[in-house]
Amino acid sequence: MKTFTIAVIAGDGVGAEVIPQGKRVLEAIAKKHDVSFAFQDFDWGAGHFARWGRMMPAGAIDLLQPCDAIYLGAVGHPQIPDHTTLNGLLLPIRRSFDQYANVRPAYLYHGVESPLAGHKGGGIDFVVVRENTEGEYAQVGGFLYQHQPEEVAIQTAVFTRRGVERIMRFAFELAVKRNKKKRVTSITKSNAQGYGMGLWDRTFQEVAARYPDIETESLLVDAAAMYFIRRPESFDVVVASNLFGDILSDLAAGIIGSMGLAASANLDPERRYPSMFEPVHGSAPDIAGKGIVNPLAAILTAAMMLEHLELPAAASEVEAAVAAVLAHGKVRTPDLGGTSSTVAVADAVLEKLA
Ligand code: NAD
Ligand code: IPM
Ligand code: MN
Repeated sequence: MKTFTIAVIAGDGVGAEVIPQGKRVLEAIAKKHDVSFAFQDFDWGAGHFARWGRMMPAGAIDLLQPCDAIYLGAVGHPQIPDHTTLNGLLLPIRRSFDQYANVRPAYLYHGVESPLAGHKGGGIDFVVVRENTEGEYAQVGGFLYQHQPEEVAIQTAVFTRRGVERIMRFAFELAVKRNKKKRVTSITKSNAQGYGMGLWDRTFQEVAARYPDIETESLLVDAAAMYFIRRPESFDVVVASNLFGDILSDLAAGIIGSMGLAASANLDPERRYPSMFEPVHGSAPDIAGKGIVNPLAAILTAAMMLEHLELPAAASEVEAAVAAVLAHGKVRTPDLGGTSSTVAVADAVLEKLA
């Protein structure tokens, strides 16, 4: 029987509530598919910071490296600056393991109401492919005269030909693999940011030329935000820089009905390092500790992990169980208009899997 070693970082806020539910689902599906998961839990995050002054220990990356995958909840605490928590945990993992492709599906499930009128289940079905290691998140910059009246802050975006080319290639390959609308939309802002986004646009055209069967479209990010609302059904694969992809993926989550349904994978497509699987949402301090957070984003994220671990049948079964719970419509958390608890929703998924 094959055993997969999974590093688990439940993290902060609702992360600690959704990850245990995802683990229950993983354990149940493993039994059915004759594999097993060896979970290695790491109690890193805001609690670790309060005790030790850092979000994760110095050798953390080395501890994660041998794992088959990383399953992460959320990071962020209202009492600690976000740049401290996120630059101390989530972002260094993405960069250390060169998880350059952040894949964020947006699918409107049957039984879920989109806040946009006129969309039926299955009618919205696209994936945001977000560059995950450079761009606006390159962490190049600094302060001059910090806290002085003449203070200067510099935050430089970094676009490399290698970085842009590989995310474009990934997006086109995904459009081929999905075999749906066969369309890749590139998100740009080259009208204002002609250097970085100029390289982005040129590379998009170069890579597109290698995929004559894939339709292409290039949208300025401001217009794209509007088109996400006006014609979400038209999108298939949307490729965006780190920041634009971040913003548009929350918009996409809103369109499909809830942050509580948005899954994501931080992939090293070359499989040199472990990939990391985390829901799109954060630690949601406004609802943390109440037992009402929607666990489905974390459960769908676990399904993405199964797919990456080359267990496609297991992944499909989990996804189908989630779809069935949503279509049934009775058991749902308050974000979807229900009154059920986090655990009750996970129970319903487990029942479908049984
Ligand atoms: P958030 O995603 O945590 O929450 C946004 C809104 O969506 C809140 O109203 C929240 O209650 C709701 N929501 C989110 N997930 C939900 C779920 N599963 N079920 C039901 N409702 C859900 O974003 P935020 O409030 O902007 O950020 C909170 C903290 O999380 C910040 O510290 C931020 O930096 C951090 N953050 C971390 C990650 C991550 O770890 N990947 C992602 C985003 C934000
Ligand atoms: C996400 C989050 C992170 C990001 C933050 C918390 C740094 O918003 O995963 O979408 O911007 O990448
Ligand atoms: Mn985000």
